[in-house]
Amino acid sequence: MSPDTNSSLPIIAILGGTGKEGTGLAMRWASAGYSIIIGSRQLEKAQATAADLNARLGMNTVTGVENSLAARRADICVLTVVQEAHQAALEGLKEALQGKILVDATARVDFRDPRPPAPPSAARLAQDILGSGVRVVAAFQNVPAHALKKNLGQSLETDVLACADDPEAAQAVIRLAEAGGMRAYYAGGLDNAIVVEGLTSILISLNKQYGTKTASIGITGIHPA
Ligand SMILES: NC(=O)c1ccc[n+]([C@@H]2O[C@H](COP(=O)([O-])OP(=O)(O)OC[C@H]3O[C@@H](n4cnc5c(N)ncnc54)[C@H](OP(=O)(O)O)[C@@H]3O)[C@@H](O)[C@H]2O)c1
Repeated sequence: MSPDTNSSLPIIAILGGTGKEGTGLAMRWASAGYSIIIGSRQLEKAQATAADLNARLGMNTVTGVENSLAARRADICVLTVVQEAHQAALEGLKEALQGKILVDATARVDFRDPRPPAPPSAARLAQDILGSGVRVVAAFQNVPAHALKKNLGQSLETDVLACADDPEAAQAVIRLAEAGGMRAYYAGGLDNAIVVEGLTSILISLNKQYGTKTASIGITGIHPA
């Protein structure tokens, strides 16, 4: 265990973690003291991404291995493969993911022609593929990769809606989001995640209209007693 990590925190694997969203989340959580495992289809690519992130962060807490080994070594796995690979990736990782929390960040929206996807949500599909031995939580579908990589250590101007049929699993993901500088809320069961996924279509449209890359969502009106 590196002195840069906190051993009481869950180990996080990011499956498809070599891409834009995965590396952004990895930087946030590594900075917050989590042990991060970058997963890839190719060992060398995972290792190169991990080395690059460690160099950028001045840390040595990010490692890289093939996706299924990453899943086996982690407590919480976050899926950030390209949307087209969602189903095949889950089928290939089904065994390795048993007993874990799987966070699905997939937003099935085409950047060139943004429209909300039809139900069921990607996360519901994931739960159906993986079975009841995996607790699926939908989260981070609206968090722009561009925003994650800016101003590490500072709060992000974005909120996270966590949807899950298991509220306890959602709470674990809410803690993770908060550690990465995001406000996060439990937003109901997995079927609600189709709405969250669809919001990505609106955010992409806003980015195009207003010439930005970081449109995101904010929740108001919640004042816990
Ligand atoms: N980009 C954003 O701002 C953003 C925001 C919120 C949510 N998301 C969601 O996050 C996910 C990833 O988006 P991204 O922009 O990070 O994508 P990306 O950078 O284009 O790719 C992510 C990773 O997917 C893996 N991959 C590609 N083809 C694959 C295949 N056939 N099978 C398995 N893995 C494959 C690659 O990893 P290896 O080659 O290393 O295996 C790649 O690094 C998407 O579902 C997207 O909806 C993205």
